[in-house]
Amino acid sequence: MRVAITGASSGIGKALALEYAADGADIVAFGRDVSRLRDVAENCNRFGVDVEICAVSLENKQAMSEALLRADNEGRLDVVIANAGFGGLEALAGTNGETEPTVEKLVNANFVGVLNTLRPIIPRMVARRAGNIGIISSLAGLRGMPDSPVYSATKAAARVYGEALRPLLAPYGVSVSVISPGYVDTPMSRTLPFAKPMILQPEKMARLIKTSIKSGTPHLVRPLPLAIIMRLFNLLPRRVADTLLIHLRQHTNEDG
Ligand SMILES: NC(=O)c1ccc[n+]([C@@H]2O[C@H](COP(=O)([O-])OP(=O)(O)OC[C@H]3O[C@@H](n4cnc5c(N)ncnc54)[C@H](OP(=O)(O)O)[C@@H]3O)[C@@H](O)[C@H]2O)c1
Repeated sequence: MRVAITGASSGIGKALALEYAADGADIVAFGRDVSRLRDVAENCNRFGVDVEICAVSLENKQAMSEALLRADNEGRLDVVIANAGFGGLEALAGTNGETEPTVEKLVNANFVGVLNTLRPIIPRMVARRAGNIGIISSLAGLRGMPDSPVYSATKAAARVYGEALRPLLAPYGVSVSVISPGYVDTPMSRTLPFAKPMILQPEKMARLIKTSIKSGTPHLVRPLPLAIIMRLFNLLPRRVADTLLIHLRQHTNEDG
């Protein structure tokens, strides 16, 4: 098996690379930081698998397409996981520093990046009538979060894209799984200055993601208690939900 993973240089993507390598899969590791990608490759190599490094920005449509098709030419990609992305606290636009480049970068990396990762490979998977796709969204994509409005919107877009792809590609034997994690202990979440309830380790999240993609689970939301809370939350009247969110954030701020 050969698995391409974006954002393989850190956090969840790195844990995914190691998880698949431990199973004997060859890895195509995408990211930008070459030294961290090399480090991941060395760790995967210990399992006796091949690792190809693709140091490409997700935002570069042409470079992503070329790298993916080249990797697929060298050995059929069975699994492609659109994992890379970034987030952080977003200040109030225009008042406290949420500048246009940040907004554009969020949209380009977290949503356009998913398109740039998957669109080149989909026609090949369809032609072969085989393939598994994973899209890493977020719990924040199930309901707009007030401290990260743009991030939430990009993650909702990625989830909905996956939802639409699933029935489109199923008749061609290509599965699409969307995964919406809560907090995962990675460099990204460590930048967030508030409490992170039920935070998962990236290794555990990676195992859950691998199992979901293998079984073609349409949409996995974890941890389960947060998934249930989110579902109930979305049933509340909007004004009540908004008020609860404001109170929740005030009480979970690490500064008090
Ligand atoms: N951590 C959480 O609590 C959490 C919760 C829900 C969802 N997620 C999602 O999980 C995914 C992985 O996040 P993580 O927590 O593992 O974060 P992370 O440790 O910061 O890793 C992010 C990865 O994405 C890559 N990346 C970011 N922007 C890129 C770009 N423009 N071009 C190419 N690669 C880019 C980074 O590569 P380089 O550093 O090499 O550039 C890095 O490998 C993200 O989509 C995130 O939204 C995370």
